Amino acid sequence: MNIVVIGTGYVGLVAGTCFAETGNDVVCIDIDEKKLEKLRIGDPIIYEPGLETLLKKNIRSRRIRFSGEAKDHVPDADAIFMAVGTPTGEDGSADVSHLMSAVESVVPYLSGYTLIVNKCTAPVGTASNIKKYIHDNIKNGAEFDVASNPEFLKEGVAVQDFLYPDRVVVGVDSVRAEKILRELYEPFLRSGNPIHVMDVRSAELTKYACNSFLATKISFINDISVLCEKLGADINSVRHAMSSDPRIGKTFLYPGVGYGGSCFPKDVKAIISTASGVDENLSIVRAAEQINDLQKKRFVEKVLKYFNNDVNKKVIAVWGLAFKPQTDDVREAPALDIISALAKKGAIVHASDPVAIDNARVFIKEEVKYFTDHIEAVDGADALLILTEWNEYRTFDPKKLKKHFNGKVVFDGRNIWNPEHIKQYGYDYFGVGRK
Ligand SMILES: NC(=O)c1ccc[n+]([C@@H]2O[C@H](COP(=O)([O-])OP(=O)(O)OC[C@H]3O[C@@H](n4cnc5c(N)ncnc54)[C@H](O)[C@@H]3O)[C@@H](O)[C@H]2O)c1
Repeated sequence: MNIVVIGTGYVGLVAGTCFAETGNDVVCIDIDEKKLEKLRIGDPIIYEPGLETLLKKNIRSRRIRFSGEAKDHVPDADAIFMAVGTPTGEDGSADVSHLMSAVESVVPYLSGYTLIVNKCTAPVGTASNIKKYIHDNIKNGAEFDVASNPEFLKEGVAVQDFLYPDRVVVGVDSVRAEKILRELYEPFLRSGNPIHVMDVRSAELTKYACNSFLATKISFINDISVLCEKLGADINSVRHAMSSDPRIGKTFLYPGVGYGGSCFPKDVKAIISTASGVDENLSIVRAAEQINDLQKKRFVEKVLKYFNNDVNKKVIAVWGLAFKPQTDDVREAPALDIISALAKKGAIVHASDPVAIDNARVFIKEEVKYFTDHIEAVDGADALLILTEWNEYRTFDPKKLKKHFNGKVVFDGRNIWNPEHIKQYGYDYFGVGRK
C-alpha cells in the first residue's frame, strides 16, 4: 500500500518505519526541513531503542522516504496517517490546530479514493470535524473516508509496541475503511492480539479513557505512599501484596515523583475539558491530576525540610531528566519542575541524564550544570536526587559513590535503592512511601 504519514515525531516516525518494515511504500511528511534532512540520512533524531536500525534498513530498501511536499505524494496515497502534536490549549482542551492544518495541507491533492486516518490523540468529534472540512473543501470529486486509529505505543519501547501491539483500536464508519486498516495491521497481529473495530467516537474516547485510567493508577499509589510515610507503613510491601491480586495488576503501581511525558498530563487535561463541555466533572481524573502536582511539590518539600528550608548555594545532584527511562523526551518530566523549584531557592543543580540533556536544556530556564557522566555530577554535591529510574543508576556502588559524593543524603524519587544498604554507608535516605 502507498502510505503517507504527516508528522514525523515519536508516533509518525515509528509508525512510518514499521509500516515500511511490513512492505508498504511510505512517505513521511513534515514541516521541519532540518528534521527531514537528518531523517533522510537515517538519523532518527529521537532516542528510541531499535528505531535507527529499522529506519536505516528501510531507507536502504527505499520503502521509506521523507518529504516536505504533500502535493508530490498525496495523490498516490491509499491511506494518509495524521501524526502531529495535539498539545494542551490555553483552556486545557487539546489544541487540534496542527492537526487541522495538516489536514488542510493534503485536501487539495486528494485523488481517487483515500483513507484519512487520525492517529493523533484528539477529542471526541475530531474525526467528524475533519470529515466535514474535507467534504466542504474537496474539489475534484475524489472519494475519502476518515478513521480514528489512536496510538498506544510507549516511548522507550515504541518500536516493539508498534510491531507487537497488545491491541489495535480503529474507529470507522465504512466497510472500505475497515478493510484497509485490517489489511495494514494484520502483519502486526499474527500472535492473535485483537483489533477492536468500533465507531469513530468510541475509538477517540478509548484513547483518553486508557491514559486517564493509567494516570489515575499512578496517582492512586502515590497517594497511598503518602499515607505509608505518615502511618509508618512501607509502600513496597503494600504494593507487592496489592499487585498479587489479578484484579489490581502489577503495572503502573510504582510510587514516584509523579507522571509526566507528552501524553498523560495533556490527555488528562483534555478529557477533563471534554467532560466539562458536557457538564460532567470527572472527579476521579481531576483528583489524579491534583495528586500528581502535589507529588512533585511533596518531593521538593522533603528536600527543603532536610536542609531546614535553606538550599541556597547547596549543590544538588540530579540523576535523570527524562520523564521515564529509555527515552530522551523531557516534556512535562517531573525533573523539570523539581529542578526549577530548587534552583529558584538558590540551589546549584548538577543535572545528569544518559540521553535527555539536550532536550532538557531547551526547557530548563534556570542555570543548571549538565553532566553526561552521572558520577561526575555528584562531585561536591550536598544531596543526590534520583528522578528517573535509568538502569545504570540501579546498582548502588558504594566505593565509587563515596569517592565522589561527600554529601550526606540521597532522595530516591523512584525507590530504586535499598534504604538499609544506603544507610550502612552513612547516607541519610529518603524514598517515596518507605519507612
Ligand atoms: N509520544 C507518544 O508517546 C504518543 C503516544 C501515543 C499517542 N501520541 C499522540 O500522537 C500525536 C503525535 O505525538 P508525537 O509525540 O509523535 O508528536 P511530536 O511532537 O513528537 O511530533 C509531531 C511532528 O509533527 C510535525 N508537524 C506539525 N505540524 C505539521 C504539519 N502541519 N504538517 C506536517 N508535519 C507537522 C512536527 O514538526 C513534528 O515533527 C499526538 O496527538 C500525541 O498525543 C503520542
